[in-house]
Amino acid sequence: MKEKEASTREKLKRWSHEASKELKEAKDHSQLDDTYKSYLGKKGLLSEISKGLKNLPIEERRDTGQMVGEYRNQIESLYQDLSARLTQKDLEKRLQKENYDLLRPFSLPIGRLHPLTIMQREVEDIFSTMGFEMMDGPELETDEYNFERLNFSKDHPARDMQDTIWTEDGRLLRTHTSAVQVRAMEIKKPPFRILAHGRCFRYEETDSSHETTFHQIEGMMVDRVVSVAHLIYVMKILLSRIFDKEVKVRLRPGYFPFVEPGFELDMFCLLCAGKGCSTCRHSCWIELLPCGLVHPQVLRLGGISPNEWSGFAFGLGLDRLVMMRYGVEDIRRFLSGNLRFLNQF
Ligand code: DAH
Repeated sequence: MKEKEASTREKLKRWSHEASKELKEAKDHSQLDDTYKSYLGKKGLLSEISKGLKNLPIEERRDTGQMVGEYRNQIESLYQDLSARLTQKDLEKRLQKENYDLLRPFSLPIGRLHPLTIMQREVEDIFSTMGFEMMDGPELETDEYNFERLNFSKDHPARDMQDTIWTEDGRLLRTHTSAVQVRAMEIKKPPFRILAHGRCFRYEETDSSHETTFHQIEGMMVDRVVSVAHLIYVMKILLSRIFDKEVKVRLRPGYFPFVEPGFELDMFCLLCAGKGCSTCRHSCWIELLPCGLVHPQVLRLGGISPNEWSGFAFGLGLDRLVMMRYGVEDIRRFLSGNLRFLNQF
């Protein structure tokens, strides 16, 4: 038994000697790894002895097992050292060759905000100073929120102007952010003021001022006595802050089933300043802000008594607002992914 042990120890000693010698001779990582595998791999001596352990008598098994473990650890740590040394050497060589200058100025391409996001945040800031609270709603809406509770009955002709994509379970990609008004009335007790931004979708023939995916900011204020004067005041505050000057606007009647009276607030076209251009369709006015006083029926459907409360609402075309401020002549640029365009903001 002793003899056997001695010979195993001898074998392991020789194995370790050869392994460390060969490992130390390795010139690069691939040689080092190959040598490592040949000594410590499945077919190496160590693994052969380990496999034979189970055939040894119990008393011998422990000592031999321990011995194998010690030698394995020795060679393993030598391998780790050598590998780290080679990595360091590789790095030194590379640094010498590359002549790396730590102080050289460099620039990383940094992202930036999309112009629509810049404007959205600005509008949100303006409205939060006037006590409006931010709200959110889903892009995939139900008929009830998008139409019915906004006073569009199932066969209402005004639905025709807002065709969109419907899902098989009867929901739709929302055609406007007005659906968030309904959600607001559901969860808030009057008085309240809310603002909601988001993507809207419509079946549209696209041109320089129409896109199938566009962005709106919806506002709603419900209080005891809300009048058109409040509405105009708030709209004027918004536009004069955004454009940093008095902006010419006009109010004309507009029809939306959920407001009475309803208006279209148009803004004098800043792109052509009265000369006529394709963006304003040569009318010199841009339709920017449909709005009105909340229809009593809409309040009622929202569980709010129109005898006690009144409100105004508006749906701002965010894309058009950005177009006006930055002089963007085509709405289709926004979702084009064209970095040369986007990098200007
Ligand atoms: N949701 C309407 C649309 O997209 C716009 C609108 C009109 C919103 C009047 C309003 C409003 O809140 O009061 O055509």
